[in-house]
Amino acid sequence: MRNDVKDYIRTHQERFLSELFGLLRIPSVSADSRYKADVRKAAEWVKDQLLAAGAGEARLYDTPGHPVVYAEKIISDSLPTVLVYGHYDVQPPDPLELWDSPPFEPVLKNGKIYARGACDDKGQMYVHIKAFETLMQLNQLPCNVKFMIEGEEEVGSQHLGEFVRQNKALLKADVIIISDTSMLSNEQPSITVGLRGLSYVEVELTGPNRDLHSGVYGGAVGNPANILCELIASLKDKDRKITIPGFYDDVIELTPEERKQMAQIPFDEEDYKKHLGLNALDGEKGFTPYELTTVRPSLDVNGIWSGYTGEGAKTVLPARAFAKISMRLVPYQDPEKITRLFSEYLLAIAPPSVTVRISPHHGGKPVLVPTHSRAYHAAELAYEKSFGKKPLPVRSGGSIPIVALFEETLGLTSLLLGFGLDTDAIHSPNEHFGVFNFLKGIETICYFYQNYRHL
Ligand code: BES
Ligand code: MN
Ligand code: MN
Repeated sequence: MRNDVKDYIRTHQERFLSELFGLLRIPSVSADSRYKADVRKAAEWVKDQLLAAGAGEARLYDTPGHPVVYAEKIISDSLPTVLVYGHYDVQPPDPLELWDSPPFEPVLKNGKIYARGACDDKGQMYVHIKAFETLMQLNQLPCNVKFMIEGEEEVGSQHLGEFVRQNKALLKADVIIISDTSMLSNEQPSITVGLRGLSYVEVELTGPNRDLHSGVYGGAVGNPANILCELIASLKDKDRKITIPGFYDDVIELTPEERKQMAQIPFDEEDYKKHLGLNALDGEKGFTPYELTTVRPSLDVNGIWSGYTGEGAKTVLPARAFAKISMRLVPYQDPEKITRLFSEYLLAIAPPSVTVRISPHHGGKPVLVPTHSRAYHAAELAYEKSFGKKPLPVRSGGSIPIVALFEETLGLTSLLLGFGLDTDAIHSPNEHFGVFNFLKGIETICYFYQNYRHL
């Protein structure tokens, strides 16, 4: 039987790729104000592509930060409406010297697109624009579609919450679809049914009023760097359990049945270690690596600095020490409560020789996606048709804080239909996205619309 969708994608795949390369060349790094104009350029680009793909309307909404791109194609009020969310901003590309090719000069190598944002999320977001084009061109778009593509995801979606609250009518829809996660493998597709939440804090320890000679003063004066290490070390016990009082209070433990189901998900520990260059894994006792990265909370130093780090040896006892710490949260932990518990505990255990300042950064709530909805079923069938295999529901360890907010403000569930792989090196040097994944993604999203309409 002829498959119009597949034919269209095959005929136009070269153009799809060269268009995506155009977007990947724009360095839309939301965290760095030097790229502000480029971030806007990327927004304009997305808007233009949405219009070219067939949107009836597309515009930028300015926010106090980076703009939101909104577009829609309304066919009929009596049809269901799908809202597509994605982000056109990217993480900073550093460290640049570890890239095999420049991060904003996309190249195709071994069937993969290499560039910052290739997978997270420009490539995956573009899947949706091309799926939309495909159905428009084939005259087969079976429902209304709205697009909301933001430029501040990688900095915590600072202003999107307000935009959503202010534009509830504009964003009215029946379901949200998002491709900003990964799947198990190209042979075994999966749909993400859970995301971890996030609490992110910066800690500053101050000791003496200036850097001191470490010989003249060392021994009698509390060293903020030493003390910071001590404090961080005491946040976990010997079984790698987090010691903050109350931290686990709201964590739901999985039932033996749920754990058994999770154990069915293919996971090769040897492969995992090899890929990461590790001799051994390390984590809370009593849980599998898959559980540890998805259904258990975690606490990690993301950055730590103090004292002299230049060439040679400067003998100095630093006046201050800093750390950025992330805590990944699971249902039903609340990021604000966790930030409070963290702060109270750190202040309680810090010795009087230092003063502690804790500044919270962005956070977000964990997410669970129900698997018995009409929309989930439509997605399941779509993957089955494009990949030839039923997708497994899996939990993921990453965070997309805005998803919980969509649920709270719009009352909508989001389907997390990611096509990347965990090995795509998102946020790392040499980020990439498989051409196979890009094209399969387009195909799957087309089938999703067709199924969602007919179920
Ligand atoms: N796309 C990622 C989240 C993700 C990646 C979820 C892989 C599941 C699997 C997103 O762009 C991201 O990086 N989110 C941040 C949180 C944000 C507040 C900066 C994260 O998870 O660190
Ligand atoms: Mn992302
Ligand atoms: Mn990201």
